[in-house]
Amino acid sequence: MGFLQKLFGKQTEEEETMAAEKLNIGIILGSTRQGRVSPQVGEWVKGIADKRGDANYEIVDIADFNLPFLGTTDGTEPGIAAWNEKLASLDGYVFIVQEYNHSITGALKNAIDFAREAWYNKAAGIVSYGSTGGARAAEHLRGILGEIKVADVRTHPTLSLFTDFENMSEFKPQELHLDNVNAMLEEVVAWSGALKTLR
Ligand SMILES: Cc1cc2nc3c(=O)[nH]c(=O)nc-3n(C[C@H](O)[C@H](O)[C@H](O)COP(=O)(O)O)c2cc1C
Repeated sequence: MGFLQKLFGKQTEEEETMAAEKLNIGIILGSTRQGRVSPQVGEWVKGIADKRGDANYEIVDIADFNLPFLGTTDGTEPGIAAWNEKLASLDGYVFIVQEYNHSITGALKNAIDFAREAWYNKAAGIVSYGSTGGARAAEHLRGILGEIKVADVRTHPTLSLFTDFENMSEFKPQELHLDNVNAMLEEVVAWSGALKTLR
């Protein structure tokens, strides 16, 4: 990259082509409540992912789409179409999952229910948190993913509210999770690429 291009952050044609050829992986924030910690966790995963350079990673925040509660409106809200378009543009997903009453949030389930074909034949990884690492919520999500034809990878980083957060609100992940996040991403990228042949 030339000095001026570097200075102004412009991509060369070659870099643009490389980015276009890479898979698009969405890091989906599963919680929408005020004061949620999911943005901190999502940004941490994205930071690790971006260093890999093996895909285009982006944060997808359910809250940005202002989805109504399924079936309570005529379905013409622009956020519903935008949500489907965003999912359709992705090749794979990383779900940031928090445990609410031993399951996923109502917001994530509602968002999942708002799309169908846009989910199909893609891969997903799960990063979860909670008092027991969000394991129960993650296992519930795996059952749901089968129904929307999403192949969930095995490696699953689990973060503890007690040891990876300060006061259960400030995210301070232990170093040991790094390898697990990378292994999960490796699997998501490989499976997302393989499933592209079905789409
Ligand atoms: C309605 C509700 C139910 C919860 N139930 C559980 C639970 O069953 N198990 C658990 O480990 N944590 C539970 N928690 C704690 C959450 O995991 C914790 O607050 C976490 O930060 C939520 O993610 P968020 O900050 O991204 O919303 C619950 C929190 C809420 C708000």
